[in-house]
Amino acid sequence: MKCYLIFFTVFTGSCVALNCQQVDGNLKQIDAGLGQVFGVNASNNVFTLYGNTWVQLPGELKHVTVGPAGVWGVNTDNNIFKMVAGQWVNVPGLLVQIDAGGDEFISGVNMFDKVFCMNSQYSMAYSNAQTLTQWENLPGGLTYYSCGPIGCWGVNSANQIFLMNNVIPTSCMGNQQWQNIQGSLAMIEVGTDGTVYGVDNTGKIFRRDGITNSTPAGTQWTLVNICGNCKHVSYDLGVLWIIKDDGSIMTCS
Ligand SMILES: *[C@@H]1O[C@H](CO)[C@@H](O)[C@H](O)[C@H]1NC(C)=O
Repeated sequence: MKCYLIFFTVFTGSCVALNCQQVDGNLKQIDAGLGQVFGVNASNNVFTLYGNTWVQLPGELKHVTVGPAGVWGVNTDNNIFKMVAGQWVNVPGLLVQIDAGGDEFISGVNMFDKVFCMNSQYSMAYSNAQTLTQWENLPGGLTYYSCGPIGCWGVNSANQIFLMNNVIPTSCMGNQQWQNIQGSLAMIEVGTDGTVYGVDNTGKIFRRDGITNSTPAGTQWTLVNICGNCKHVSYDLGVLWIIKDDGSIMTCS
Protein backbone atom coordinates (compact mmCIF):
# COMPACT_ATOMS: atom_id res chain seq x y z
CA MET A 1 0.00 0.00 0.00
CA LYS A 2 1.55 3.26 -1.13
CA CYS A 3 0.30 6.69 -0.17
CA TYR A 4 2.02 9.89 -1.11
CA LEU A 5 3.18 12.14 1.67
CA ILE A 6 1.37 15.17 0.26
CA PHE A 7 -1.99 13.53 0.95
CA PHE A 8 -1.07 13.02 4.57
CA THR A 9 -0.45 16.74 4.84
CA VAL A 10 -3.49 17.85 2.86
CA PHE A 11 -5.79 15.11 4.14
CA THR A 12 -5.34 13.89 7.68
CA GLY A 13 -6.47 10.44 6.67
CA SER A 14 -5.34 6.97 5.83
CA CYS A 15 -5.14 4.88 2.71
CA VAL A 16 -7.08 1.84 1.52
CA ALA A 17 -6.61 -0.54 -1.42
CA LEU A 18 -9.67 -2.02 -3.12
CA ASN A 19 -10.18 -5.07 -5.29
CA CYS A 20 -11.03 -3.78 -8.80
CA GLN A 21 -12.14 -5.29 -12.08
CA GLN A 22 -12.54 -3.71 -15.49
CA VAL A 23 -16.03 -3.62 -16.96
CA ASP A 24 -16.70 -3.65 -20.72
CA GLY A 25 -17.47 -0.34 -22.35
CA ASN A 26 -16.29 3.25 -22.33
CA LEU A 27 -18.08 6.11 -20.56
CA LYS A 28 -17.44 9.70 -19.52
CA GLN A 29 -19.90 9.70 -16.60
CA ILE A 30 -21.67 7.05 -14.52
CA ASP A 31 -24.25 7.01 -11.74
CA ALA A 32 -25.21 4.03 -9.62
CA GLY A 33 -28.19 4.13 -7.28
CA LEU A 34 -30.92 1.84 -5.94
CA GLY A 35 -29.21 -1.12 -7.62
CA GLN A 36 -29.28 0.47 -11.06
CA VAL A 37 -26.39 1.84 -13.14
CA PHE A 38 -26.67 4.54 -15.81
CA GLY A 39 -23.96 6.27 -17.82
CA VAL A 40 -23.21 8.40 -20.86
CA ASN A 41 -20.37 7.97 -23.35
CA ALA A 42 -18.20 10.59 -25.05
CA SER A 43 -20.79 10.88 -27.86
CA ASN A 44 -23.53 11.59 -25.26
CA ASN A 45 -25.25 8.28 -25.92
CA VAL A 46 -27.07 7.01 -22.81
CA PHE A 47 -26.74 3.51 -21.40
CA THR A 48 -28.02 1.39 -18.54
CA LEU A 49 -26.45 -1.81 -17.33
CA TYR A 50 -28.73 -4.83 -17.75
CA GLY A 51 -27.01 -7.96 -16.54
CA ASN A 52 -23.52 -7.61 -17.96
CA THR A 53 -24.63 -5.65 -21.02
CA TRP A 54 -24.83 -1.92 -21.59
CA VAL A 55 -28.23 -1.28 -23.17
CA GLN A 56 -28.52 1.99 -25.08
CA LEU A 57 -31.45 4.26 -24.18
CA PRO A 58 -33.04 6.80 -26.53
CA GLY A 59 -31.79 10.37 -26.59
CA GLU A 60 -28.49 12.12 -25.95
CA LEU A 61 -27.34 13.39 -22.56
CA LYS A 62 -24.06 14.66 -21.15
CA HIS A 63 -24.95 13.67 -17.55
CA VAL A 64 -27.40 11.08 -16.22
CA THR A 65 -28.49 10.24 -12.67
CA VAL A 66 -30.56 7.54 -10.95
CA GLY A 67 -31.92 7.57 -7.42
CA PRO A 68 -35.02 7.78 -5.23
CA ALA A 69 -36.39 10.60 -7.46
CA GLY A 70 -36.10 8.45 -10.60
CA VAL A 71 -33.86 8.75 -13.66
CA TRP A 72 -32.98 12.28 -14.76
CA GLY A 73 -30.37 13.85 -17.04
CA VAL A 74 -29.15 16.98 -18.79
CA ASN A 75 -28.10 17.41 -22.42
CA THR A 76 -25.37 19.51 -24.03
CA ASP A 77 -27.80 22.48 -24.23
CA ASN A 78 -28.29 22.12 -20.44
CA ASN A 79 -31.93 21.11 -20.91
CA ILE A 80 -33.24 18.87 -18.13
CA PHE A 81 -35.03 15.56 -18.71
CA LYS A 82 -36.83 13.03 -16.55
CA MET A 83 -37.43 9.45 -17.66
CA VAL A 84 -41.22 8.96 -17.72
CA ALA A 85 -42.61 5.65 -19.02
CA GLY A 86 -39.42 4.98 -21.00
CA GLN A 87 -39.29 8.44 -22.61
CA TRP A 88 -37.23 11.51 -21.78
CA VAL A 89 -39.63 14.31 -20.84
CA ASN A 90 -38.29 17.89 -20.77
CA VAL A 91 -38.36 19.60 -17.37
CA PRO A 92 -38.31 23.43 -17.20
CA GLY A 93 -34.93 24.91 -16.23
CA LEU A 94 -31.27 24.60 -17.24
CA LEU A 95 -28.60 22.60 -15.39
CA VAL A 96 -25.12 21.30 -16.26
CA GLN A 97 -25.10 18.56 -13.60
CA ILE A 98 -27.98 16.83 -11.85
CA ASP A 99 -28.40 14.35 -9.01
CA ALA A 100 -31.34 12.11 -8.07
CA GLY A 101 -29.69 10.68 -4.95
CA GLY A 102 -31.55 12.80 -2.41
CA ASP A 103 -34.60 11.58 -0.51
CA GLU A 104 -36.95 11.89 -3.51
CA PHE A 105 -35.82 15.44 -4.26
CA ILE A 106 -33.63 16.50 -7.21
CA SER A 107 -30.57 18.74 -7.06
CA GLY A 108 -28.01 20.18 -9.45
CA VAL A 109 -25.91 23.12 -10.58
CA ASN A 110 -26.22 25.40 -13.60
CA MET A 111 -23.68 27.00 -15.98
CA PHE A 112 -23.23 29.96 -13.61
CA ASP A 113 -22.39 27.64 -10.67
CA LYS A 114 -25.78 28.36 -9.11
CA VAL A 115 -27.17 25.55 -6.99
CA PHE A 116 -30.76 24.34 -7.28
CA CYS A 117 -33.03 21.67 -5.86
CA MET A 118 -36.62 20.59 -6.39
CA ASN A 119 -38.68 19.31 -3.47
CA SER A 120 -40.10 15.80 -3.66
CA GLN A 121 -43.73 16.83 -4.22
CA TYR A 122 -42.62 18.35 -7.56
CA SER A 123 -39.81 15.99 -8.58
CA MET A 124 -41.81 12.81 -7.97
CA ALA A 125 -45.02 14.06 -9.63
CA TYR A 126 -43.36 15.54 -12.72
CA SER A 127 -44.62 13.77 -15.85
CA ASN A 128 -45.23 16.34 -18.61
CA ALA A 129 -45.04 20.02 -19.57
CA GLN A 130 -48.28 20.73 -17.71
CA THR A 131 -46.95 19.45 -14.38
CA LEU A 132 -46.15 22.16 -11.85
CA THR A 133 -42.43 22.54 -11.11
CA GLN A 134 -40.52 24.71 -8.69
CA TRP A 135 -36.75 25.00 -8.42
CA GLU A 136 -35.29 26.34 -5.17
CA ASN A 137 -32.08 28.39 -5.48
CA LEU A 138 -29.55 27.69 -2.74
CA PRO A 139 -27.02 30.33 -1.67
CA GLY A 140 -23.41 30.19 -2.88
CA GLY A 141 -21.86 28.61 -5.95
CA LEU A 142 -20.87 25.03 -6.77
CA THR A 143 -19.70 23.11 -9.84
CA TYR A 144 -20.91 19.67 -8.63
CA TYR A 145 -23.60 18.78 -6.09
CA SER A 146 -24.76 15.34 -4.95
CA CYS A 147 -27.26 14.27 -2.31
CA GLY A 148 -27.85 11.25 -0.12
CA PRO A 149 -30.03 10.28 2.84
CA ILE A 150 -28.00 12.26 5.40
CA GLY A 151 -26.90 15.37 3.52
CA CYS A 152 -25.80 16.95 0.26
CA TRP A 153 -22.13 17.39 -0.67
CA GLY A 154 -20.72 19.76 -3.26
CA VAL A 155 -17.51 21.20 -4.63
CA ASN A 156 -16.89 24.65 -6.06
CA SER A 157 -14.67 25.91 -8.91
CA ALA A 158 -11.75 26.21 -6.44
CA ASN A 159 -12.24 22.53 -5.48
CA GLN A 160 -13.39 23.46 -1.98
CA ILE A 161 -15.80 20.99 -0.39
CA PHE A 162 -19.13 21.89 1.22
CA LEU A 163 -21.87 20.01 3.04
CA MET A 164 -25.53 21.00 3.37
CA ASN A 165 -27.25 19.57 6.43
CA ASN A 166 -30.90 19.02 7.33
CA VAL A 167 -32.04 18.33 3.76
CA ILE A 168 -35.45 16.63 3.76
CA PRO A 169 -37.88 15.77 0.94
CA THR A 170 -40.09 18.80 1.60
CA SER A 171 -37.17 21.16 2.30
CA CYS A 172 -34.34 20.24 -0.06
CA MET A 173 -32.43 23.47 0.66
CA GLY A 174 -31.70 22.17 4.16
CA ASN A 175 -30.51 24.73 6.70
CA GLN A 176 -28.99 26.87 3.89
CA GLN A 177 -25.67 27.07 5.76
CA TRP A 178 -22.75 25.58 3.84
CA GLN A 179 -20.39 23.66 6.10
CA ASN A 180 -16.86 23.84 4.67
CA ILE A 181 -15.14 20.44 4.79
CA GLN A 182 -11.35 20.34 4.78
CA GLY A 183 -9.79 18.89 1.63
CA SER A 184 -9.85 19.50 -2.13
CA LEU A 185 -11.98 17.64 -4.70
CA ALA A 186 -13.08 18.18 -8.31
CA MET A 187 -16.21 16.02 -8.10
CA ILE A 188 -18.11 14.31 -5.31
CA GLU A 189 -20.88 11.71 -5.17
CA VAL A 190 -23.06 10.51 -2.31
CA GLY A 191 -24.32 6.92 -2.49
CA THR A 192 -27.91 5.88 -1.74
CA ASP A 193 -26.69 4.71 1.69
CA GLY A 194 -24.90 8.01 2.41
CA THR A 195 -21.37 6.88 1.54
CA VAL A 196 -19.34 9.77 0.06
CA TYR A 197 -16.59 9.41 -2.56
CA GLY A 198 -14.81 12.09 -4.56
CA VAL A 199 -12.06 12.62 -7.12
CA ASP A 200 -9.46 15.39 -6.80
CA ASN A 201 -7.98 17.40 -9.65
CA THR A 202 -5.04 14.99 -9.96
CA GLY A 203 -7.31 11.97 -10.48
CA LYS A 204 -7.04 10.52 -6.98
CA ILE A 205 -10.09 9.01 -5.27
CA PHE A 206 -11.01 9.72 -1.66
CA ARG A 207 -13.67 8.25 0.61
CA ARG A 208 -15.20 10.18 3.51
CA ASP A 209 -15.16 8.09 6.65
CA GLY A 210 -17.06 8.44 9.92
CA ILE A 211 -20.37 9.69 8.48
CA THR A 212 -23.29 8.97 10.82
CA ASN A 213 -26.64 10.62 11.52
CA SER A 214 -25.08 12.47 14.44
CA THR A 215 -21.82 13.24 12.54
CA PRO A 216 -23.04 13.98 9.00
CA ALA A 217 -19.72 15.62 8.07
CA GLY A 218 -17.78 12.46 8.88
CA THR A 219 -14.29 12.58 10.34
CA GLN A 220 -11.59 12.06 7.69
CA TRP A 221 -10.73 11.41 4.05
CA THR A 222 -9.20 8.07 3.11
CA LEU A 223 -7.19 7.82 -0.09
CA VAL A 224 -8.41 4.93 -2.27
CA ASN A 225 -5.47 3.34 -4.08
CA ILE A 226 -6.37 2.76 -7.73
CA CYS A 227 -3.86 2.36 -10.57
CA GLY A 228 -4.02 5.27 -13.01
CA ASN A 229 -5.89 8.54 -13.09
CA CYS A 230 -9.61 8.59 -12.42
CA LYS A 231 -12.13 11.23 -13.46
CA HIS A 232 -15.45 10.06 -12.06
CA VAL A 233 -16.83 7.86 -9.27
CA SER A 234 -20.20 6.61 -8.07
CA TYR A 235 -21.02 4.25 -5.22
CA ASP A 236 -23.97 1.95 -4.60
CA LEU A 237 -24.62 -1.24 -2.62
CA GLY A 238 -20.98 -1.81 -1.69
CA VAL A 239 -19.64 -1.30 -5.22
CA LEU A 240 -17.51 1.66 -6.26
CA TRP A 241 -17.86 2.50 -9.96
CA ILE A 242 -14.87 4.32 -11.44
CA ILE A 243 -14.35 6.01 -14.79
CA LYS A 244 -10.68 6.42 -15.60
CA ASP A 245 -9.19 9.23 -17.71
CA ASP A 246 -9.33 7.03 -20.80
CA GLY A 247 -13.06 6.31 -20.25
CA SER A 248 -12.53 2.73 -19.15
CA ILE A 249 -14.86 1.50 -16.41
CA MET A 250 -13.90 -0.31 -13.20
CA THR A 251 -15.90 -1.80 -10.34
CA CYS A 252 -14.21 -2.02 -6.98
CA SER A 253 -15.27 -3.50 -3.68
C1 LIG B 1 -21.15 5.89 -27.93
O1 LIG B 1 -22.08 4.83 -28.12
C2 LIG B 1 -22.55 4.71 -29.45
C3 LIG B 1 -23.62 3.63 -29.47
O2 LIG B 1 -23.08 2.41 -29.02
C4 LIG B 1 -21.39 4.41 -30.39
O3 LIG B 1 -21.84 4.33 -31.71
C5 LIG B 1 -20.34 5.51 -30.25
O4 LIG B 1 -19.21 5.19 -31.04
C6 LIG B 1 -19.93 5.68 -28.82
N1 LIG B 1 -19.02 6.81 -28.70
C7 LIG B 1 -17.83 6.69 -28.17
C8 LIG B 1 -16.98 7.93 -28.19
O5 LIG B 1 -17.41 5.66 -27.68
